[in-house]
Order: sequence, then C-alpha cells, then structure tokens
Amino acid sequence: MSLRQGPVESLHNGMIPVDIHTSTSGRDAMLGQQLVYFNLFGFFCSFRKTQLNLYFEHLHKKYGKLVKVRTGNRWDIFVFDPEYIRLLMAQEGKCPNRMTPPILNVFYDKKGIKKTFSSLQGEEWHAKRMHVQKFINARSVNSYLPSQNSVANDLVIQLDKNENELEIDDVLSRYVADVNAVVAFNSKMGFLDDEILRECPEKREYLVASRRTFSLFAESMFSVPFFKYYETRIYKDFESSLDSVIRFIRVEVSKAIKRSMSEMSKCEDNLLINMYRSGIYGWDELSLIMHSLMFAGVNSTSATLQWLLWSLSGDEEVQARLHEEISENMGQSLYIQPTTLAHMPYLKACVKECFRLVFPSLNGSMRILPQETIVDKYILPKGTYVHFGHNALCRSEEYFESPNEFKPERWLSGTKDQAIKLKMSYAVMPFGFGPRSCLGRRFAEQEIYLAVIKIVQNFQLYRDTNAKTPEVLYSTIPFPSCPFPVKFRKR
Ligand code: HEM
Repeated sequence: MSLRQGPVESLHNGMIPVDIHTSTSGRDAMLGQQLVYFNLFGFFCSFRKTQLNLYFEHLHKKYGKLVKVRTGNRWDIFVFDPEYIRLLMAQEGKCPNRMTPPILNVFYDKKGIKKTFSSLQGEEWHAKRMHVQKFINARSVNSYLPSQNSVANDLVIQLDKNENELEIDDVLSRYVADVNAVVAFNSKMGFLDDEILRECPEKREYLVASRRTFSLFAESMFSVPFFKYYETRIYKDFESSLDSVIRFIRVEVSKAIKRSMSEMSKCEDNLLINMYRSGIYGWDELSLIMHSLMFAGVNSTSATLQWLLWSLSGDEEVQARLHEEISENMGQSLYIQPTTLAHMPYLKACVKECFRLVFPSLNGSMRILPQETIVDKYILPKGTYVHFGHNALCRSEEYFESPNEFKPERWLSGTKDQAIKLKMSYAVMPFGFGPRSCLGRRFAEQEIYLAVIKIVQNFQLYRDTNAKTPEVLYSTIPFPSCPFPVKFRKR
C-alpha cells in the first residue's frame, strides 16, 4: 500500500500526501476509508463497457467520496462530493488543464493544422478561448434566434409528416446540425428537408461523415492509443471522415463569408463575421473553429433532446404543466422571443432534470491539477488527474430524493433551502465549470429550449406500451439500448 505517512505527513501538518506514481496492485482496495486504490481495468470483470456509469456509481457507493483509481500507467482521483468539487473549482486558476483527446491531437499534428479549444492547454488555450469567447454573449446568441426558430418550425413539419414512423435520433440530429449551421455558416442548410438532402448528396454525405467521425472519436477514447505510433484502422477511418467533414465546412464557411460581405455592417453580433474581420485566422483555422462549434455539441445536444422527449412522453402531468407554461407565454405564435425564454422556469427545470437523470457525459469534467491541492485530509500532488463524478452524484440519494424519477419540480425556486440547492447544482454540472466550461452552452440551451417548445406546442407525446423500455448506455455520451418508443400525436 502506498499511502505514505510518517515524516512527510508531519511536514504537512497531519495531512496525508497521496502518491500517484507508485504502481501498487490495483486490487488493494482499502475498504472503509475515503481514499482507496482500485484498478480501472477491474471493471471489465463485472461491468459492460457501455455501462461504465454504473461502475462509477459502484465506486462511490463502495468506497466513498474520494477514490484513487489505476488508469493505465497513472493513478487518478475520482471525486464524488459536491463540496470537494466546489473547493477544487475555486482553485483551478485562469488556464485550467484538461486531458486533450489523443486522436484529435494525432490528426492535428499529422496535418500540421493549428489546434483548437479542446486540444490546447495553458496560455495558448487561454488566448484563443478569450478571443472567441468575447463574441459569444447573450446578445450574439439571441441574434441567431429568428433563424434557429425557423429551423425549429422545420422540425415540426418533419415530425408532422412522419408522425409515427420516425427515427427520432435521425430527425433530432438533423435538427441540431441545422441549428448549429445557422451559427457556423449564417444560413440554414436544409438538413431537415428530405428533398434538399436528395438533391445535394454532399449534405447527406456531410451528415454521415460527421456521425462517423463522432463514433470513431468515441471508439478511440476506449481503445489503447496505438494510433499514436502507427496508423490503426480507427485512425485511418477517423482521418478520412474528418477530412471530408472539414472539406465541406471549408467550402460553406467561404460561401458564408462571401454572402455576408455586402451586409458586414448589419453583422455586429455575428460570430463568423467577427472572427473573419479580426484578421487573426487563416481559412483552415477558421474552418476548424467552426468545425469544433458544429461538431463539439451536435451529439450531446441531440442526445439530451432524445432523453428529454422520452422522459416527457412518460409523464402526462409534467407535459400538461409544460404545455400550460408555453401557451401562457406564446399562445399559438410561431416565433419565440428572447424575453419569452426568460419567463419559462418550468421548461428550464425540465431540461435540468433531464441532465440529472441522464447525465450527458460518461463521468463528468476532469482537470489536471495546476498545483498541490488539499482535499479533506489528503494532499494531491500537482499534475494529478482529477475526475468529477457527476454521473454518480446525479443519481445519489444523498442529494436527490427518488433519484431515479423525473421530477422537474425539484429545481424550482422556493422548493429547497439554499445549502441543499447549492449541493444539487455542484452535483449536476452538465456543461462543466469555470473558464474552461462548455463554450457552446448558451447555444446548446437555446437549441434545446426551441425544439422542446415547438414540439410540446404542437404535439402530445406518448409511449408505445408494447415496445421495449430503453436502458441508458454510454459511449462518451448516453444512448438508448433500443430505439425510443416515443410517439407524437398532433394537438
Ligand atoms: C447538451 C449539449 C452540450 C453539453 C452537455 C456539453 C458539455 C461540455 C462539457 C462538459 C465540456 C467540458 C467543460 C469542462 O471541462 O469544464 C464542453 C466543452 C466544450 N463544448 Fe460543449 N456541450 C454541449 C454542447 C456544445 C455546443 C452546441 C457547442 C458548440 C456550439 C459546444 C462547444 C464546446 C467546446 C468548443 C468545448 C471546449 C471548450 C474548451 O476547452 O475551451 N458544446 N462541453
């Protein structure tokens, strides 16, 4: 066992330094203590690869709030406590470091392309993030509302046309691709229009390549990264699909800029035009930034929408209350105003509750500690990989009554005391936190709200009771074990 005590401990006023380098046996779990050793590879014995979320719940239940886990050649710390998360957040500094996705790094290095947000660290990351961040604020996100609203109207047309023979995942991922395109290319691409997709095979190909890139990306996160040393099958497929995605984006970005040239003065809040006008970015880099905006969120946003529709379809009362809030604020109006969104607490509670019930990522955020940090009675050295166990906390009875039930009311103001509410919000952080939190959060939320408002305004959701009930499985994001048996009945 390598919890070093004695002389080192006394140097630190009774704190226990944690050794993250010594390679002890992964099976030396110290039961009954807060900090334990466990071997991440141990989960393969009892947990399916797609149910690692249950493994995290198991670690939390069995070993407590801080767990030391062997991951490959490192020992990482998993934190299962909202108060410790708050404490670690407060100390993360101006340039928080996160693990960068290895397959993207290999791709960028091979192509000699400048890296974007999730692949950068330190000052380089900070400079790029600050530059783009200043163009993404409430006003600029709201400026896309009318065009995104029109995409949401297309979604209703598509659902109405196909009502009961829908592949929800296909329709919703086309919706999200199109609302994101409004941001990246300043125009609707028509991904939701079957005729446009038939006439423009490059758009259909883009959707296919984009999905393929994401699924290979997820696969690469669970494989030994041999692609760092030679071109594995996963890498070759990843490179070819990402190449075609970037080609498509490059062409569309350039068309968008030409289109918008004549209207430059009207584009004060426009992200693409502002970035182009700054003169800092070359074509490749601009296309890659737009790609990370298109790509980073498409899958999480459409997965969240699918799980939310599923939850709503099983609860008539919640649906009725949500419908009432929508009708009060919108009537039958086709267009949603920013002020309308500001008056929909129940809608926001439904979305938050969906994030809690089906957390949108396998575990949660992670950080590489910038300095030695004390958590409880343990000293974690600089460089420790710390994972925040939101997925397990979201289903913990300690913070949530009836954690397996969909209860949006728990998020409404006035229902809990402040200390409990604070813990609940640190337990559920779907977009991460601090300066390195999700860059697209405002966009993602707007896209989800728009789709839900339009769907609930126009349809009643119900479930096909003869079909199987989907279980939550995970790649890097949640997916259902079988197609969602959600049905739409026009109101
Ligand atoms: C439901 C939808 C989404 C979820 C749950 C989500 C979640 C996250 C999380 C957890 C992170 C890491 C945060 C951290 O480490 O603290 C992140 C980063 C990021 N997200 Fe999102 N995201 C979503 C949608 C989007 C969208 C729509 C976009 C783009 C328009 C986007 C762009 C990004 C980017 C660029 C980063 C990297 C930021 C950086 O490293 O500086 N995300 N997201």
